[in-house]
Amino acid sequence: MALFEKKKPEVQLAPPRHIAIIMDGNGRWAKNRGLPRTAGHAAGAETFRRIANHCRALGVEYLTVYAFSTENWKRSEEEISGIMKLLKNYLMEAMRDMEKNRVRFCFFGDLTRLSPELQELCAQAESASMDYDVQVNFCLNYGGRDEIVRAARAFAAKVAAGECSPEALTEDGFSDLMYSAGVPDPELVIRPSGELRLSNFLLWQSAYSEFVYMNVLWPDFKEKDLDAAIAEFHRRNRRFGGV
Ligand code: IPE
Ligand code: IPE
Ligand code: MG
Repeated sequence: MALFEKKKPEVQLAPPRHIAIIMDGNGRWAKNRGLPRTAGHAAGAETFRRIANHCRALGVEYLTVYAFSTENWKRSEEEISGIMKLLKNYLMEAMRDMEKNRVRFCFFGDLTRLSPELQELCAQAESASMDYDVQVNFCLNYGGRDEIVRAARAFAAKVAAGECSPEALTEDGFSDLMYSAGVPDPELVIRPSGELRLSNFLLWQSAYSEFVYMNVLWPDFKEKDLDAAIAEFHRRNRRFGGV
């Protein structure tokens, strides 16, 4: 082997422009170790940092992560406050390292249910990072059905105000009323943890996404797992209803 021969990158094919991940399995990871669920969420936050860096290195333009669903409020007060605290720490760190990381932050979901302090941090992170290219969309208090209902309400309000007729609504126009307005649909949706369901994630946007389910808990998810999911994506035959 030549002295300076470059190591071949694991992923040789272009990655999808937009990857979405359901970051699942933190609780089971902690339980397997006899730790509180919050320890699993802390480990999951570390995985997110690594995988977001890896996505950037691969040239992924948009990364959308499911961090807290509209249904996750059913969990114990202790677990929810643990997750919110981790989120706050992460956002404070992200604000500090903004110049270095150059990542654009967006939030999908109804943030009004979060604490005023967290809402303020989200707003600051969003406005301070507006000019960066690689975009991370955090789904917080996000539900795909909730998003669709909100979009429908917004359109109905326009009709009621006499701004347009019901027939004026198109698929593209409806997309523009979603949290994800302006963001291309994810080509690839990854769910670690072994569950084979969408759990109310990106219902509208994932109409033609390729799904890759993986038998690894999110805190154990490694860069090579992302590479494997991308390789699997490239083996799929995407027909979009054609032949
Ligand atoms: C995903 O991990 C994180 C959130 C839903 C906030 P879980 O907490 O759902 O982990 P499991 O599925 O119980 O293992
Ligand atoms: C989906 O995971 C939500 C997030 C990962 C944030 P859940 O753990 O809440 O989903 P279910 O309950 O297994 O469907
Ligand atoms: Mg779960």
